[in-house]
Amino acid sequence: MKTLSLAFALAAPAQAALRFGCSTLTIQRLDPVVEPGNVPSAHLHQIVGGNAFNASMDGDVGERGACTTCTFSEDFSNYWTAVMFFKHKNGSYHKVDIVQNTALPNGINGGMTVYYTQQDFSSNGKQKITAFKPGFRMVVGSPTSTKRYGNGLKFVCLKGNKGTRFPELDVFPAEKCNGIMTVHHFPACWDGKNLDSPDHQSHMYNTVKEAFQNGGPCPSSHPVRVAQVAYETLWDTGKFDGMWDAKDGNPFVLSYDTAGSPGYGTHADYLFGWKGDSLQRAMDSSCMFNACENGRPLKSQAVSPMNKCTVNKMVNEQIDGWLDAMPGQKGHAMKHRKQ
Ligand SMILES: *[C@@H]1O[C@H](CO)[C@@H](O)[C@H](O)[C@H]1NC(C)=O
Ligand SMILES: *[C@@H]1O[C@H](CO)[C@@H](O)[C@H](O)[C@H]1NC(C)=O
Repeated sequence: MKTLSLAFALAAPAQAALRFGCSTLTIQRLDPVVEPGNVPSAHLHQIVGGNAFNASMDGDVGERGACTTCTFSEDFSNYWTAVMFFKHKNGSYHKVDIVQNTALPNGINGGMTVYYTQQDFSSNGKQKITAFKPGFRMVVGSPTSTKRYGNGLKFVCLKGNKGTRFPELDVFPAEKCNGIMTVHHFPACWDGKNLDSPDHQSHMYNTVKEAFQNGGPCPSSHPVRVAQVAYETLWDTGKFDGMWDAKDGNPFVLSYDTAGSPGYGTHADYLFGWKGDSLQRAMDSSCMFNACENGRPLKSQAVSPMNKCTVNKMVNEQIDGWLDAMPGQKGHAMKHRKQ
């Protein structure tokens, strides 16, 4: 049996997977996918990736980037999520720092870990995995959601060290953690036609299951299997341990949610920007994780140029230190973006 399945594997398209670090590019109220042109956008985002990032972004981003905060130096995509805040009993808010993930080169400044897997963590289910096209974008989750998502949008309570991966929770942990990891898995089935859609989601179909498991085949409405994009962001919540009591409930909120919901509104945005056919070459190769670096087949860079890449501040407002309200909130209820 073993020999037989090996023979099939050799005949099938190659199994490949990317996992890499990106340092923080900027933390600002900008959102070129959901609120293009709005300076500022409704809530604060932490953004990684290429320096063509701007309030609105059209065309072939991969041809415009001059530097990127990601390991793969041909990846000018942008990846972002909401920012986590600590809400003090006294009503003040403090942004939570982002820390480097495990299994990444040392010294990465904040940022996140990005994955492009195939069907599950390390195999492609014997199918072709298609790269995104220039101009492609998508959103997963919604800040206005009042229901559990479950499908790949998770919180993990980091215990002892940053390597904790289970259990994956649908909500903020109720207990004190050394840190909280937020996890965002994007859908991997594309309609094959639209680079975007009015809700930034319906051109995609979600088959995602927990923790990089195979979520089943793509439906005929969305037949094209694209790379499965996922983000992990590690928030340094342990710093605030002395300032809250577990009996009062979770004090952490996401940047749009002053009421402190369980976290159902967690969401993330993706804007494709790989140069030329670089992502397709990676998906067609048989490299795994770090083995894809140094031109095999992707160009890569060291941590110091990643950390140096940045964009200008386009929104001038205080985001650090103790704040009376979160950016965009200004003491009154925030306008939620509609999706
Ligand atoms: C961002 O957009 C503005 C307005 O279109 C433009 O002036 C600026 O050069 C852009 N910045 C980058 C880094 O592309
Ligand atoms: C809340 O507590 C923090 C930490 O001690 C303090 O810096 C901040 O000024 C306080 N805010 C108010 C409104 O008292």
